[in-house]
Amino acid sequence: MKTISKNPNKVDRHDLELRVKDMYKKVALHPEVEYHFEMGRKLAERVHYPSSTLDKIPSQAIDSFSGVGYYFDLAELKTGEAVVELGSGSGMDAFFAATQVGETGEIIGIDMTDEQLEKSSRLRDEVGFSQVTFRKSYIEELPIMSNSVDAVISNGVINLSSEKAKVFSEAARVLKTGGRLAISDIVTEVKLPENITCNATLWAACIGGAMQIDAYKQLIDDAGLEIVSVKDNPYAFISDNAKGATKQFGIKSISILAIKK
Ligand SMILES: C[S@@+](CC[C@H](N)C(=O)[O-])C[C@H]1O[C@@H](n2cnc3c(N)ncnc32)[C@H](O)[C@@H]1O
Repeated sequence: MKTISKNPNKVDRHDLELRVKDMYKKVALHPEVEYHFEMGRKLAERVHYPSSTLDKIPSQAIDSFSGVGYYFDLAELKTGEAVVELGSGSGMDAFFAATQVGETGEIIGIDMTDEQLEKSSRLRDEVGFSQVTFRKSYIEELPIMSNSVDAVISNGVINLSSEKAKVFSEAARVLKTGGRLAISDIVTEVKLPENITCNATLWAACIGGAMQIDAYKQLIDDAGLEIVSVKDNPYAFISDNAKGATKQFGIKSISILAIKK
């Protein structure tokens, strides 16, 4: 599909936002449809979410889960902690985090897609996770005070941003000193060619925006966060197109833990 971009070497942010919103509106409303990526409980269990905790989360949130890995083992959330989730989708990870921080903790899920926010907020009200709130915002401009949270978490989202340096710098800004960034995301072994990175449709599919792993880690470091752990996740795309790109460019899912210095 043709992408309208003023700069031919860059994806157009407005175009990208429309496509990402369109994709994740569908994910919120129609999780039963087949996408090029896997979703739901089967995926969550394969990437090692414990079933006993999933059982405490609304099943409709799990149906629309479109993360790419498990990072809660790295995050080690504790009772009473304050956590921000970047790109909270239908709410599965926010609810998972709520089971770990308990009623005295606080989870703020950030997302830009109305249908995801409506679904996650409705499920929160139905189940009564009163320590969880969802806010409409961009992950590049967090509506959160500086030095105020213990952990920033995110699953399969940062690859979708055309301004990743801003995302990591915002994460570092809101974290307290010693706070943790714990994320799962898609990266590549080799830099993707421009015919892929300039295509907003492939970005919305979590492929076009995937960054070369060393460059990705450098952005985290540049934001003032020290990486202490990196692991590969048992994640795979479904469609033939996506599988081809995965082989050709070494596209893979990783989880990272980094600490604010
Ligand atoms: C792949 S889904 C992952 C959702 C959720 N983390 C999960 O595991 O199911 C990506 C989500 O991030 C949101 N998103 C993508 N880019 C964003 C941005 N720049 N600002 C805010 N939300 C964004 C989308 O609306 C979507 O809900």
